[in-house]
Amino acid sequence: MARSQEDVAVTMSKLALYEEVAEGLASMIGDGTYRPGERIPSIRAMSRNKRLSMNTVMRAYAHLENMGLIEARPQSGYYVRCRVLEPESASVRTVRAEDIAPSPVTIRDISFQIMRSLSDRSLVPLGRGVPNSELLPVDKLNRMLGTESRRFRMQSISYEDVAGSARLRAQIARRSLNAGCTLSLEDILVTSGCREAVSLALHTVCRPGDTVAVESPVYYTFLRIAEWLGLKVLEIPSSPGEGMNLDVLNYVIRHNTVRACATILNFNNPLGSVMSEEKKRELVAMLSEYDIPLIEDDVYGDLAFGPARPVSAKAFDEKGLVLACSSFSKTLAPGYRVGWIIPGRYRQEIEQLKALFNAATASPTQLAIAEFLTNGGYDHHLRTIRRVYSRNVEGMRGAVARYFPQGTRVTRPRGGFILWVEMPEQVDAITLYEKALQKGISVAPGPIFTLGDRFRNCVRLNAAFWSEQTEQALETLGWIAREMV
Ligand SMILES: Cc1ncc(COP(=O)(O)O)c(C=O)c1O
Repeated sequence: MARSQEDVAVTMSKLALYEEVAEGLASMIGDGTYRPGERIPSIRAMSRNKRLSMNTVMRAYAHLENMGLIEARPQSGYYVRCRVLEPESASVRTVRAEDIAPSPVTIRDISFQIMRSLSDRSLVPLGRGVPNSELLPVDKLNRMLGTESRRFRMQSISYEDVAGSARLRAQIARRSLNAGCTLSLEDILVTSGCREAVSLALHTVCRPGDTVAVESPVYYTFLRIAEWLGLKVLEIPSSPGEGMNLDVLNYVIRHNTVRACATILNFNNPLGSVMSEEKKRELVAMLSEYDIPLIEDDVYGDLAFGPARPVSAKAFDEKGLVLACSSFSKTLAPGYRVGWIIPGRYRQEIEQLKALFNAATASPTQLAIAEFLTNGGYDHHLRTIRRVYSRNVEGMRGAVARYFPQGTRVTRPRGGFILWVEMPEQVDAITLYEKALQKGISVAPGPIFTLGDRFRNCVRLNAAFWSEQTEQALETLGWIAREMV
């Protein structure tokens, strides 16, 4: 029913001035004048236009922030908040622990084809989890590759020690302090990327037929390694907030023989979640009670947007049961293939397996990365790329809010560059993927992140890149998705 002028006047007179301003803006947000992800007028502009003091506008904006309607973005202004993917939202709703059973891994042909297509370089790369190469210190690294190869002439063409370059391991050990780990050179083995580290770890601790607990949605490379090794997988529900549900894990461990647990605890791929320190401690304690090794993939850990990097679960490892894996693929050079593993009590087996499969990680790239870590300004570089990724992630969230159908939800990661988008149930992510491919755009559809039948209305997006082309690609994706609703 329409309110009379008098009613309105009475209501208005009861409101403080700042509340009136906030109400006005709230109704503009409500009726779609300002849509999620769009910027509202700056405090200065609002104060000038409405002839109000800056103080009143600031109070109004603070009020809207408290109501969860807008958010401040550093050095950028105030934006209408995007709908955040909540822990209880449909795609990540907790599955009942009793319903979770070990599943043999057979990756569907369609998933396999999709995974392969994600590496197609001619597509707008929204699907693949690669860093933005324009942000990587290509020239400096390649220069160091040259100078170091000249400086260590014979070493650069010889087999490196199977454990890896001592200088590089010393740098990794020093940097591990930021992740809460006190390590020596002997604790670290250099690998050809994080993928090799995780493969060596699973290979070492599991035998064919064994069961591994993983997050759900799960990083699909874990599934591929498990399939290759003939393992079964138990998918433990995860949420964008804190990752793996430890109550469910606990139940599952008590009712099944779980040989290992493989997780991404910091800026998870694909959910972006970070497990709190307290829960990491609980996870390590729970697994060690059953002598179950924890394989921790921490490849995104250095990409925190906040001032501090989240700790690694390795920091809480008292029994040598955590095998921490990482690499420089997301921060320096994926093509250099330099990563590492901190294998705990499995050091000897992992070293033997590495020697058997791969002899040693390539020498020249180890030399170059060791030099970059020593004299290349790695921390400065990290600060720069984190800032850009933080901005890109917000930019992409805004674009998703603008273009995707009503009811779409998107995660808000605090690091890394991966977004998980849950669309209304009518949107079929595989169809979206197929139609996007025809338009030259890659996206990673939700079903490739599970062996089951979940995440059919979800996609993973890579926010490492941000340009007009990216925005156009998102507009196209949104349009395709809206057609399905
Ligand atoms: C979680 C996670 N682990 C490992 C990798 C692969 O790392 P690397 O290139 O060092 O083998 C990726 C890259 O896509 C990833 O997202």
